[in-house]
Amino acid sequence: MSIKIALAAASVCLFGLVGTASAVDVAGAEALIKAEKCTKCHDVTKNKKGPSFTAAAAKFAGKAADLKTFLTANKDDHLIISKGDAKAVDNLVEYILSLKK
Ligand code: HEC
Repeated sequence: MSIKIALAAASVCLFGLVGTASAVDVAGAEALIKAEKCTKCHDVTKNKKGPSFTAAAAKFAGKAADLKTFLTANKDDHLIISKGDAKAVDNLVEYILSLKK
C-alpha cells in the first residue's frame, strides 16, 4: 500500500515537472539537429566524435542556460546553431535535456 502511494506521488511529481516545462517538440528538434548536421558528430545514445546527447543531458541537467550558451555563443570552439529562431534553439535545448536517463 505505501509503495503504491509512493509510486503515485512519484508519477504526480514527474507529471508536474513535464507540465511546467513547455512540451518538447521532438520532431522540430530532430529537424534542427539534422539541418545543422549535428549528427555528423553526435548520436542520441552513442558517443561519436562528440559525446552522446544522453551524456550531454546528464552533464547539463538543471543548467539549460549553460547548454544554450554552449550551443550559441561559440565559447569552446564548438559549432554554434546558425539555423532556426530563438524558439527553435530553446526547444533543442529542452529536447537534449529531456534525454537524460
Ligand atoms: C564537427 C563535429 C561536431 C558537430 C558538427 C557538432 N558537435 Fe557537439 N561536440 C563535438 C565535440 C568533439 C564535443 C566535445 C568537446 C566539446 O565540448 O567541445 C561536443 C560537445 C557537445 C555538447 C556537450 C556535451 C558534453 O557532454 O559536454 C553538446 C550538448 C553538443 N556538442 C551538441 C551539439 C549540437 C546540438 C550540434 C548541432 C548544432 C553539435 N553538437 C554539432 C563535436 C561536434
